[in-house]
Amino acid sequence: MNTERVFGYALLLPLLLQVSTCLDILNQNNNIKDGDLLVSSGKTFALGFFSPGNSSLRYVGIWYYQVSEKTVVWVANRERPISGTSGALSIDSDGNLVLHEKNGSFPVWSAKDSSALSNYSTTARLMDSGNLVLVQDFSKRVIWQSFDYPTDTLLPFMKLGLDLKTGLNRFLTSWKSPEDPAPGNYSYRIDPTGYAQLFLYKDGDPYWRSGSWTGDRWSGIPEMTRHFIFNVSFVNNPDEVSVMYVIINASIISRMVVNELGLVQRFTWHARQQRWIGFWSDPMDQCDYYGKCGPNSNCNPYNEGRFECTCLPGFVPKSPGDWDLRDGSAGCVTRPRASSCQGGEGFVKVALVKVPDTSKAHANMSFSLNDCEKECLGNCSCTAYASAQEGLGSFGCLMWHGDLVDTRTFADSGQDLYVRVDAIELARYRSKTSSLSERARIAIISVSVLTALLLTSSFSYCLVIKKRNDRRSQNLLMSEMTNSTYFEGSPSVKDCDDEPRGNRDVPLFDLSTIASATNNFSFLNKLGQGGFGSVYKGVMDNGTEIAVKRLSQHSGQGVEEFKNEVRLIAKLQHRNLVRILGCCVEEDEKMVIYEYLPNKSLDAFLFDKAKRSLLDWRKRFEIASGVARGLLYLHQDSRLRIIH
Ligand SMILES: *[C@@H]1O[C@H](CO)[C@@H](O)[C@H](O)[C@H]1NC(C)=O
Ligand SMILES: *[C@@H]1O[C@H](CO)[C@@H](O)[C@H](O)[C@H]1NC(C)=O
Ligand SMILES: *[C@@H]1O[C@H](CO)[C@@H](O)[C@H](O)[C@H]1NC(C)=O
Ligand SMILES: *[C@@H]1O[C@H](CO)[C@@H](O)[C@H](O)[C@H]1NC(C)=O
Ligand SMILES: *[C@@H]1O[C@H](CO)[C@@H](O)[C@H](O)[C@H]1NC(C)=O
Ligand SMILES: *[C@@H]1O[C@H](CO)[C@@H](O)[C@H](O)[C@H]1NC(C)=O
Ligand SMILES: *[C@@H]1O[C@H](CO)[C@@H](O)[C@H](O)[C@H]1NC(C)=O
Ligand SMILES: *[C@@H]1O[C@H](CO)[C@@H](O)[C@H](O)[C@H]1NC(C)=O
Repeated sequence: MNTERVFGYALLLPLLLQVSTCLDILNQNNNIKDGDLLVSSGKTFALGFFSPGNSSLRYVGIWYYQVSEKTVVWVANRERPISGTSGALSIDSDGNLVLHEKNGSFPVWSAKDSSALSNYSTTARLMDSGNLVLVQDFSKRVIWQSFDYPTDTLLPFMKLGLDLKTGLNRFLTSWKSPEDPAPGNYSYRIDPTGYAQLFLYKDGDPYWRSGSWTGDRWSGIPEMTRHFIFNVSFVNNPDEVSVMYVIINASIISRMVVNELGLVQRFTWHARQQRWIGFWSDPMDQCDYYGKCGPNSNCNPYNEGRFECTCLPGFVPKSPGDWDLRDGSAGCVTRPRASSCQGGEGFVKVALVKVPDTSKAHANMSFSLNDCEKECLGNCSCTAYASAQEGLGSFGCLMWHGDLVDTRTFADSGQDLYVRVDAIELARYRSKTSSLSERARIAIISVSVLTALLLTSSFSYCLVIKKRNDRRSQNLLMSEMTNSTYFEGSPSVKDCDDEPRGNRDVPLFDLSTIASATNNFSFLNKLGQGGFGSVYKGVMDNGTEIAVKRLSQHSGQGVEEFKNEVRLIAKLQHRNLVRILGCCVEEDEKMVIYEYLPNKSLDAFLFDKAKRSLLDWRKRFEIASGVARGLLYLHQDSRLRIIH
């Protein structure tokens, strides 16, 4: 910054008088040379020449003026860099904003097609929102603005989407590399066909689908409902399909970016730590990739080691051989004997999903869910239906005809999809659900408790290594996600629970403490995810490292139930068991806080070609007997008996 002169100071006195105190405007009387800066009036954004990374090429861009880590949010000449420092941005005699490589040369970049202009007198101004606007002096009409031509970053107040009257389509395109702002392989844009959706494309093909707007979030981003820092307005009418994010607390600096690796990420600036904190990132797991399991299937990443692809009700794998080899790309087809319209058909609900691609779906916003079912049932080609809006009271109807593409399960808030099946299939599902429901509930609750207890960073495998700083031996803990059962020894449990001392209670942490320890549950702190929720690494103010398991809101457990169980579990204390440090129950959140195990899960060693050699036979023997000791404690020696 020192070397860059703030625009204006470098100019001659007469010019300085003309520009007076306005350092945020550019008109026919001045220009911005390499080294000059245009700074918005509130000093939030600056415009000038820069070179990305180690590149020596010069670009004109906009970046945050007060963010110490130079972060470019917009680039003018993405594809036509200037080599050398002789460039200048100015307003030409037509009133167009133009960038010249040298005085007198043909412009390398211009805001508008020059044919579209005739003899305007204009002024360019850098706004505090980061928008560079070109205004006609006479009419005060905005004839061009940088917000209409985004690069890779979406700022608050910027619209993403289409103006159907003018044909303007605003979308984000990744840079080629951190050194080259030219358009890269990924773009993030709204597709208005069928029922409008937001897509990330790779080389023009769908790569990840944010999905359709459900009233308070995108169908593919369930986390959005949990964050109240934005005010998102989605517009879908004959003139416009667009979305705009506004940060409710204007002093928070937040941006969304599509990076060259194909990730859509949101960052917020942490002023005290002087760095960007990752807030959210997608695509996140394998089921996010578009059409991972082919048509008519559902992708469930929480299948705990089993194949993530399953066929939707009434469908069977198209290519069973590939399916067995865990290649789901061929998807599923209807059973051979199935015939779609013989009467007696009905629907099977698939809960907590991202509903299929709606680009060929039909929407009718005046239908209720009941109308929707009737309409779909009455049309032989209708394969599924769902509610269009979920936010405040669900309404509207989406109907699919033909293949159902890109359905996936979420751990938390997803939508219900109703898939059409024939009479035989319907009977099968009915008998299955009625006999299962009661047993399943009991089993699920006990399994979730045990896994909350036993697992920290390991999800799909059963061993967790724990290594104390000063201790050589590796202490272990064994658990298994799927087959755990939890028996309470009733009398002793009652005694413990009624213990008047209370000093063995698990500490309760504030949500704000946990949020600040984990950088607000940043994806950069995420250690992993399972069907029960996500696990984050955190650092407390005193430097203690913790692992936070944030249970999904559909764990089906009440608050008191949860606290009781954590309290009981905390009484299990053994050097080979991961210690519970406390829990946090606030608003809709339920979290368990464990000590942090720096070496991660044993499976990271056992199944890694390089690391497995670190485990010689002696160590493996120690591990095995450590596991056995942990189990013995659970089975026999603890006050609570856990049969595993
Ligand atoms: C710039 O070059 C240095 C030294 O060659 C390298 O360490 C660094 O990673 C490069 N930076 C970028 C952004 O490529
Ligand atoms: C550009 O060239 C013209 C004449 O060719 C000259 O009058 C003007 O001062 C030059 N501008 C700059 C910024 O050097
Ligand atoms: C542009 O405006 C100038 C002065 O205002 C005038 O002399 C010139 O003829 C105009 N050119 C066109 C193409 O209108
Ligand atoms: C873009 O995609 C092409 C083809 O898939 C690939 O060769 C190229 O390396 C990609 N570019 C970047 C910047 O990832
Ligand atoms: C959020 O959006 C609603 C509707 O667009 C508006 O009424 C409200 O004032 C906005 N709130 C903030 C804090 O911007
Ligand atoms: C807005 O954010 C700033 C900085 O994070 C904070 O100090 C302030 O209290 C917040 N204001 C409100 C109304 O939340
Ligand atoms: C929605 O359904 C109503 C009632 O059947 C019908 O009148 C209307 O035309 C439908 N709208 C669309 C967009 O299909
Ligand atoms: C079924 O729905 C499709 C798509 O909306 C429509 O083209 C077709 O005419 C409908 N068929 C009947 C029998 O209503």
